[in-house]
Amino acid sequence: MGFIRLQRYLSRCGLGSRRGCEELITQGRVSVNGEVLDELGSAIDEDSRVLVDGRKVTVLPHRYFILNKPKGIICVRDDPRGRRWVVDMIPKEFRPGLFPVGRLDIDTTGLILITNDGDLSNRIAHPRYGVEKEYVALVKGNMTEGELKAMEEGVMLDTGMVKGIRIISFEHVEDRTSVTLRIHEGRYHVVKRIFLAVGSRVYELHRRGIGELNVDDVEVGSWKEIGKDLILSKCKIE
Ligand code: URA
Repeated sequence: MGFIRLQRYLSRCGLGSRRGCEELITQGRVSVNGEVLDELGSAIDEDSRVLVDGRKVTVLPHRYFILNKPKGIICVRDDPRGRRWVVDMIPKEFRPGLFPVGRLDIDTTGLILITNDGDLSNRIAHPRYGVEKEYVALVKGNMTEGELKAMEEGVMLDTGMVKGIRIISFEHVEDRTSVTLRIHEGRYHVVKRIFLAVGSRVYELHRRGIGELNVDDVEVGSWKEIGKDLILSKCKIE
């Protein structure tokens, strides 16, 4: 038996984002052990009987999916233009409460982890924990080894310095360069912006891996369910 904040409990029941769950509470739609709780921040016993709109809700088991995201799919829910979001690529019965860990741009392909485990998500996505993401970027021009290695010293963006870039390999493909790099930053458009900052431009971007987890054996547009232990060991999370 443990205590948990009510909005967190509701979000673990698959009732949407923490924010959405806060609204359910402040609208007076949630009762705990027979009493309406409409104030945020209350901690409840995990064994409580919780009702939303009079219906009992229960915590869902954590699940973890890796998806090889194709182009044209977005990572934010409720797109005003109605574009398909990544969670819709997972079968319907698993979807309640799932969200993508971090974001990939609409035109980026590759590994996206989809889960309902907020704590694990935070440890993977937050730069503080230093979990590296590996990208393969096809960029404009024939970049030299010197230019690429210089990026490892840090690249200044309008939002500050990006440190911790590691160039793993590169090859010239006609008049472009295919660069494999590792980075633990999750800033908006970060890979495209660092190449722009050094005078190039990303034409194609693929996220190959998170830590040592990759989608090399998952076809673009396909997914597979994996266990938490595999994620912890491949991402070296204690
Ligand atoms: N960096 C980008 O620029 N785009 C992505 O989708 C991911 C990282």
